[in-house]
Amino acid sequence: MTFRKADWPRRLRSAEWFGGTSRDNIYHRSWMKNQGLPADLFDGRPVIGICNTWSELTPCNAHLRDLAERVKRGVWEAGGLPLEFPVFSPGESSLRPTAMMYRNLCAMDVEEALRANPVDGVVLMVGCDKTTPALLMGACSVDLPAIVVSGGPMLNGKWRNTDVGSGTALWQMSEMVKSGELTTADFLEAEQSMSRSPGSCNTMGTASSMASMAEALGMALSGNAAIPAVDSRRRVLAQLAGRRIVDMVKDDLKPSDVLTPAAFANAIRTNGAVGGSTNAVVHLLAIAGRVGVELTLDDWDRLGRDVPTIVDLMPSGRFLMEEFFYAGGLPVVLKALLDAGLLDGDALTVSGGTMAQEVAGAQNRNEEVIRPLHRPLTPQGGIAVLRGNLAPNGAVIKPSAATPELMRHRGRAVVFEDIDDYKARINDPDLDIDETCVMVLKNCGPKGYPGMAEVGNMGLPPKVLRRGVKDMVRISDARMSGTAYGTVVLHTAPEAAVGGPLAIVRSGDMIELDVPARRLHLDVPDAEIARRLEDWRPPAAPAGGGYARLFHSHVEGADTGADFDFLKGCRGRAVGRDSH
Ligand code: FES
Repeated sequence: MTFRKADWPRRLRSAEWFGGTSRDNIYHRSWMKNQGLPADLFDGRPVIGICNTWSELTPCNAHLRDLAERVKRGVWEAGGLPLEFPVFSPGESSLRPTAMMYRNLCAMDVEEALRANPVDGVVLMVGCDKTTPALLMGACSVDLPAIVVSGGPMLNGKWRNTDVGSGTALWQMSEMVKSGELTTADFLEAEQSMSRSPGSCNTMGTASSMASMAEALGMALSGNAAIPAVDSRRRVLAQLAGRRIVDMVKDDLKPSDVLTPAAFANAIRTNGAVGGSTNAVVHLLAIAGRVGVELTLDDWDRLGRDVPTIVDLMPSGRFLMEEFFYAGGLPVVLKALLDAGLLDGDALTVSGGTMAQEVAGAQNRNEEVIRPLHRPLTPQGGIAVLRGNLAPNGAVIKPSAATPELMRHRGRAVVFEDIDDYKARINDPDLDIDETCVMVLKNCGPKGYPGMAEVGNMGLPPKVLRRGVKDMVRISDARMSGTAYGTVVLHTAPEAAVGGPLAIVRSGDMIELDVPARRLHLDVPDAEIARRLEDWRPPAAPAGGGYARLFHSHVEGADTGADFDFLKGCRGRAVGRDSH
């Protein structure tokens, strides 16, 4: 594959603002010059937007101002004009009701900012979970040349001489406090130890999964996923990305050139190999929807089903992102998949070359962290897509994070009508539940929560935990943190809040989970299900107006990416007339 390059030099879209002698051209240039920009910078060179999700309210991205300066160095070196701008930053750790509610808002912000401003290409500065898909979605809907620079993961957490994984340890310690294995004082002491440096979660959670997806899709330079945030090589990568985007503009190498069906297939298989987050399912479906690639939930099962998980990282395994980087990072995984015929080596990347060229020199430096394919962590990684009368439009489970003995299970449902009901009753010693039951949580999907919160890995009841039980089958229309684990069925669609069958499950019903057969079955007669659905009434929409109302009115199901109906597709880079 060779990328057909555009003619250069040629007039760029930024010249519509800066390249002439009209009153409007003078107006646009003059105001920009208040930043001390010399006149010769408006000579038709590529104007590069640096789209930054930096925010002190998004701690995982709090170092991105500094990293953006490194990008600027590269842009200057290559003869471009860098202009940094902020967009809404959906930070995972603090936003309420859930950061996912704001992914589409951020994507809208990115799209409109790119189209309305005089930029010819963009560097997408991302890190925390939702920032990567949001910026990719927005950039895809404009289809200007774009390259992803991730902020990189935090250093390993360290507490009492043991490694502490972001999120994963939090869930584990929280359960240990409930079961009496850990004191609250211990838990508080561990708090600072979990987050020792700038960067995103150091597990193979959603941030690391999406950084891996960006690289596997071909939208980031090779090595982007794993370099720690504080490693000097992260700064080098940022500078190189700054140089590269200038050439991408000259070549007019766009997201639609890179994000082909082959690129998505590569990403899905890579997610299986790294033991990536279930959130990647929703995000890749949404990104595909923006570039017009027909990607479905079933593609996830079909393509990822036989991919072994070979990266031994928490939450599926033992190590953290630092070790992944030292072992060679994602290029090693991509090369292993390529050598096994599981990766399309002809797929184009933002480098202008092919994926095969990008990973040709990758070498595995630690086969405990990145295992060979014949000695995997889990023989069948990937995401399993379940169907049945409980999930007509599908549900997902991550087998590598589940308990093997629970992958086939029949149990009595214990139903929580919503997250408040769950919180009110889960600690009740009289709750009629044991480890053979199936916990069911409703009304936590895109419309139901709203925003589809990461509550699907709901904690077990204390009375079960105290008996040493670590896992139970849990089913919901929610998502789960990429750092979490357990036999957790997620994204059940249609969601309860729109009348999916999940809405009519009652405590005492029997539920069958059969992951090998990809089946999720409510053992209730069809006529009874139909009768209950007839009686079902939708929950009230969120009170008030504003963005919450927009979200509730337009968000689609998890099985198609939970994008807004009116945001799907590419609307291009053309902008309306100048109003001055
Ligand atoms: Fe931001 Fe995990 S909370 S990356």
